[in-house]
Amino acid sequence: MPKGEDRPLIDDKKKRSAANNRANFRSRKINETTSHVGRPNRLWTLIRVFRAVLRDPCIVLSYWKSWRLLPRLEANRKPLPIFVDWHSRVTLADNARFRIRKHFVIGRFDTQIGQNGQEGLDRAVVQLGSRAELNIDGNVVIGPGVRLLVGPEAVLTIGDFTRITSNTRIFVKRKISIGSHCQISWDVQIMDTDFHKIFDEQDHLKPNTKPITIGDHVWVGSRVVILKGVTIGDSAVIAAGRIVTRDVPARGLVAGNPARVICTNIKWEP
Ligand SMILES: CC(C)(COP(=O)(O)OP(=O)(O)OC[C@H]1O[C@@H](n2cnc3c(N)ncnc32)[C@H](O)[C@@H]1OP(=O)(O)O)[C@@H](O)C(=O)NCCC(=O)NCCS
Repeated sequence: MPKGEDRPLIDDKKKRSAANNRANFRSRKINETTSHVGRPNRLWTLIRVFRAVLRDPCIVLSYWKSWRLLPRLEANRKPLPIFVDWHSRVTLADNARFRIRKHFVIGRFDTQIGQNGQEGLDRAVVQLGSRAELNIDGNVVIGPGVRLLVGPEAVLTIGDFTRITSNTRIFVKRKISIGSHCQISWDVQIMDTDFHKIFDEQDHLKPNTKPITIGDHVWVGSRVVILKGVTIGDSAVIAAGRIVTRDVPARGLVAGNPARVICTNIKWEP
């Protein structure tokens, strides 16, 4: 194509982009003038805040708690890393570390039956002793009545999308790690210590504290007790009411008391 015929096309493009720029500039100016007046935007913000408060008054408490805890928190989702229900309590010792990677909901859990778990009024408690560490590695929800008690210098880690239903208790004296996408049911008890001491025939003290590791995508049934030193593999299922004293392999289903593997290579879905 001869060179002369290219030019009008390019000029056309330039003209069109210049016209677009002018139009953008004009609309921006109009927006700026209306926002300068300020009323519509502020009014909308107020209406939105008012609606949110009406829908869920806990939002006010959650902002307040998050704001109060922020100087003590290592959180990357500000200003609302913690959402708390009315009856929840968070107590941190002075030098405890509390990290939240995404969002931590305390004291509220929507089950398929009933609202907010079951006895929605039980108090959820998160308590960290001196130099204790709580790592919330993503979006984590704990229901009403759940107690996370992390002793001095102990570490508790909970992975992304893990849900802990009502009245479950986790006592940490040394270390407990719970993976991601786990479902931990009602009234479960997980403790890495026996609390008291046992001596054998030769009067030797038996170790009474050992870390617990729970893999990813584990389903822990209602009223299960998980004792010290247990490692549960990924995608395992623990049947309701069991006492787990030994390791559980990945994709194993355990039942019986104390729990023993009854099936392998299982799959489960939430
Ligand atoms: C009773 C207890 C202290 C024993 O601890 P331990 O002496 O270290 O015992 P071990 O973990 O070595 O287990 C020994 C055997 O008993 C079994 N066992 C342990 N606790 C059991 C329980 N609660 N139910 C059934 N069997 C149990 C173990 O499976 C193991 O059997 P195996 O050798 O055939 O696998 C401990 O198992 C326990 O129940 N701890 C929790 C204590 C508690 O409730 N504290 C709350 C504060 S008071």
